[in-house]
Amino acid sequence: MDMFIIRGGRALAGEVTVSGAKNAALPIMAASLAVDGPCRLRNVPDLVDVRTLSTLLRELGMSVTRDKNGDLVLSTSNDSPFVAEYEQVRRMRASICVLGPLLGRRKRACVSLPGGCNIGHRPIDLHLKGLAALGADIRVERGYVVAEAERLKGADVYLGGPFGSTVTGTCNVMSAAVFAEGTTTIEAAACEPEVVDLGHFLNSMGANISGLGTPFLRIAGVERLTGTEHTVIPDRIEAATLMMAAAITGGDITLDSVRADHMTAVIEKLREIGVTIDVDGQRMRVRCLQELSPTDCIALPYPGIPTDVQAQLTALLSTVPGISIVTDKVFPDRFMHVSELLRMGAQIRREGNNSIVSSSSQLSGASVMASDLRASAALILAALAADGESVVRRIYHLDRGYERLEDKLRQLGADVRRVNDEPSNVPASLLPQEESGETPLQPPHFTRTSQVTRASTEDSPG
Ligand code: EPU
Repeated sequence: MDMFIIRGGRALAGEVTVSGAKNAALPIMAASLAVDGPCRLRNVPDLVDVRTLSTLLRELGMSVTRDKNGDLVLSTSNDSPFVAEYEQVRRMRASICVLGPLLGRRKRACVSLPGGCNIGHRPIDLHLKGLAALGADIRVERGYVVAEAERLKGADVYLGGPFGSTVTGTCNVMSAAVFAEGTTTIEAAACEPEVVDLGHFLNSMGANISGLGTPFLRIAGVERLTGTEHTVIPDRIEAATLMMAAAITGGDITLDSVRADHMTAVIEKLREIGVTIDVDGQRMRVRCLQELSPTDCIALPYPGIPTDVQAQLTALLSTVPGISIVTDKVFPDRFMHVSELLRMGAQIRREGNNSIVSSSSQLSGASVMASDLRASAALILAALAADGESVVRRIYHLDRGYERLEDKLRQLGADVRRVNDEPSNVPASLLPQEESGETPLQPPHFTRTSQVTRASTEDSPG
């Protein structure tokens, strides 16, 4: 297992290019199950989640290759498999995105239920309700969703749930409804840019979807889809994470290949707290020229502040003087990063779906553990701002969704190293005294006298 060793305190500076959006690439790759003929996808990030889905798609009879330009080329070589096994699905919840395309094109799908998740309860009832409304026979058997329909029928589908709409649920219903007889309307559809990108991909293959980017979609069914070429949109969450890396280190960076129009809420919020942001087409300069101010922010479905940046914002605000409140209305339990940020000296109190973040004069380097993808990003941001060295463990979470983040941060001047998670790789300053054998960083409450006393006690055989 890998971990990052980060020495904080360097203001980031320079330019980096943002990668393609994971959450657009995954449903688009899954939708290629529904196509006759090859699809060529550009700007697909090289991530663990992309590789996991590629493996699943191969098991479902697809050929998936990266060509010399880095494009992903997908085509169906055998259209009879319809079972997405637990072994792949348990690695990545987004595997559920194969449900709609399989059902629509192959008329049946058997997809393992994804199971538990570190960011809270994640049911798929709305996906199933939507597909059932299209006439699919749906049941859950032995941990698998089994869905069948000889021919789906256009229907009026409502996808609103207690926490808003559903992103991958909208992707599933949309990808299935493309093949339904007649017209489908989806009300309370997710409006996220990644859903719109999937819609554009499907339309470029011959689908007939209108209303993309609004909560009301209209889909006229077609008989078949034909192969296409598509460029995946830039990753707005990666861009936002890098913007906050600039803000938390007092830096000055330029991002290339961004869609500022997908990031209005984040840009507005960062400007409100004092970050200077200049947008010039697909380039964005992010600078921290003044002391930042505290704020209240609420993660909401698009076009609100994304839940996928809530943890990173919490890390940033924990370095800002004053009291900030961060609320997550999409995943109300997505706060596992908080306890790790506390280990770095952040002052955060959790109340329900709120974090009350008080100013911390200075975060301090510590050994911390990532619990999920965005929590890893938050801990990395905190480590970039912290005094001294930090170790961020379980970086495999990060590798699922950020393409070469440590290279990008290094390119911006950060001191980040990826090493194997072995005790010998942990900086001496972060080890308990007896393991390191070197002079440790003194825990703040130790006086010189108490350390001497402790050492002499340890030396005694009794
Ligand atoms: N929900 C239901 N019923 C459902 C589906 C969802 O109640 O059938 C609830 C969820 O529990 C949650 C809310 O609705 O409270 C929104 O969930 P949604 O279905 O929109 O999430 P998702 O489609 O499973 C995608 C992203 C997540 C991102 C969320 C919200 C992908 C592959 N994943 O998940 O991304 O946080 O939308 O924007 O697109 C990430 O990249 O780190 C990540 C977790």
